[in-house]
Amino acid sequence: MKYRAIIFDLDGVICHTDRYHYLAWKQLADKLGIYFDEQINHRLRGVSRMDSLNIILERYKGKPLSEDEKENLASYKNDIYKKYLLKMSPEDLSKEVSDTLCYLRNLGLEFAIGSSSKNARLILKQIGLGDYFDAISDGNNIRYSKPNPEVFLKAADYLGRRVSECLVVEDAKAGVDAAHNAGFDSAGIGEAADYPLTTYQLNKFSDLINVF
Ligand code: BG6
Ligand code: MG
Repeated sequence: MKYRAIIFDLDGVICHTDRYHYLAWKQLADKLGIYFDEQINHRLRGVSRMDSLNIILERYKGKPLSEDEKENLASYKNDIYKKYLLKMSPEDLSKEVSDTLCYLRNLGLEFAIGSSSKNARLILKQIGLGDYFDAISDGNNIRYSKPNPEVFLKAADYLGRRVSECLVVEDAKAGVDAAHNAGFDSAGIGEAADYPLTTYQLNKFSDLINVF
């Protein structure tokens, strides 16, 4: 087998929290009188919380904000977002994802999470995968967000695997760029499915089985 491990992005791959990010950012944008729509929201995929805020603030017409004010705005958004996360349950893990993970696990593959989110562990716990992955690399252990490959390099390191032994699964172009920048092969799904830098294109999560 070419790969010994799979590094999964979380939001948009294992589960779908994208809508909650959108609703929470939308609430913040409305409060600040900033135009924000689903199209702009696509630009936030895979991008860290503060980088996402800076993208939203590109349309801000008010006086320049201090770093402290920006931190407060990011916390305001995160508080709203977390209320949605706390309503998630194992029912938010689809049967397709669950069955596919089971199948791949039975092939002896190791699994890691490589997510920009600082809420990754909370999300995994909510959907019943709290102890499932062999390693978790997330927004809490990185300095640089995707497209920087740090989050995936740390994931491979936590597993004790070389880059060439790992396949990255991503729905964000920034995430595919991150994988590519470090020399990882990647499988793109959703928004990233037709992105030319992906090694494999997945129409649906269970297509991952065909890669192995
Ligand atoms: C990524 C999402 O997984 O996590 C981004 O795709 C999000 O949209 C980023 O901005 C950071 O998330 P959090 O939970 O740390 O605010
Ligand atoms: Mg994602």
